[in-house]
Amino acid sequence: MFVGRKNELKLLNDAYRSGKDELVVLYGRPRIGKSSLVKYFARKKKAYYEFEALEGETTQGQIDHFTEQLKKQIDDPILDSVRFANWEQVFTYLTQKVLKRRSKVKKILFLDELPWMAAGRIRLVSILKYYWDNHWKDKHVMLILCGSVASFMVKKVLHSNALYGRTTLEILLKGFSPEEAACLLGRKRSREEALNYQLVFGGVPKYLEQINLNRSFNQNMNRLCFSPHGIMLKEVERIFYSQFREPRVYLKIIDLLKNGIFSLSEISAQTRIASGGGLKQYLKNLERAEMIRSIVPFDRSRNSKFRKYTLADEFLVFFFQYIEPNLRTIEESTSRRLFETLTHNSFNP
Ligand SMILES: Nc1ncnc2c1ncn2[C@@H]1O[C@H](COP(=O)(O)OP(=O)(O)O)[C@@H](O)[C@H]1O
Ligand SMILES: [Mg+2]
Repeated sequence: MFVGRKNELKLLNDAYRSGKDELVVLYGRPRIGKSSLVKYFARKKKAYYEFEALEGETTQGQIDHFTEQLKKQIDDPILDSVRFANWEQVFTYLTQKVLKRRSKVKKILFLDELPWMAAGRIRLVSILKYYWDNHWKDKHVMLILCGSVASFMVKKVLHSNALYGRTTLEILLKGFSPEEAACLLGRKRSREEALNYQLVFGGVPKYLEQINLNRSFNQNMNRLCFSPHGIMLKEVERIFYSQFREPRVYLKIIDLLKNGIFSLSEISAQTRIASGGGLKQYLKNLERAEMIRSIVPFDRSRNSKFRKYTLADEFLVFFFQYIEPNLRTIEESTSRRLFETLTHNSFNP
């Protein structure tokens, strides 16, 4: 069941009906609902082509996977016998087959997880720019570029020289609002329980989706977070490894920020990462991924040294408060009530 996202759907539908060619950039942390949003938006549209990248694949692997998906969406026996050697060949074929003429119906082209498709490099973005400028942009097209790696989407897509000024719509997808989360949790459980879930999982649809509404809050928490095979035990590590090239450095910063709120110089001193060097960039990337947030006193300038950083993601906060310090215990436990024990019953729906 798809819930909420009224504003985002309106933005996408307005762009679809605009009569102009549209280049949409959609980004947001993993599991926040980007792919679901576009699929839902496009579900009844006539000319829709979607291509999802594979995490950690080489460029040739991405091209082969792209071709496989193309085969399923375009009926052309030639595709059984060709192997494209580079992106130019892929897009030349796509142009010939799908985007050659201006059509009445707007064609939607969805590239899901562009940072993976590009294998982390800018080259694919430059190639897309070439095809956009020379072949696609006057053919009644809506190109949607989507990605979970915020730093790539901002630096190499939105702010890149290649695509700068071409983007017509930018959506940073955030977590569900409390109303949307309540819709997903249904009316089966009490308001207090719904609030407790949001305290732990924030508005991340994927996390809320794991909840079994026929079970109590405590039962769900024990199953998801406090049993040896709980699927949330490895989630933080998984996200950091997929988001960042140097996950250990980022985890080190998070490990400090879990203790409170810190300034740049405090973070630098405690993590021993030079503030002039990478640290500012690391913090910016964490902020873009919405894992941390920074606060400047209202009477200070934005570049102020008074800026302070703290954790922003609800599940990160919960993870570092209750799960991470007890990981060994959880992994070895046979108890079904570890959640109650380790949190000292501080959640009481
Ligand atoms: N609007 C929504 N309504 C219901 N479930 C959703 C919604 N958005 C996402 N989900 C669920 O959350 C999970 C993660 O969403 P997904 O679109 O794969 O996230 P992303 O592409 O940002 O990583 C999916 O399994 C999906 O079913
Ligand atoms: Mg996705």
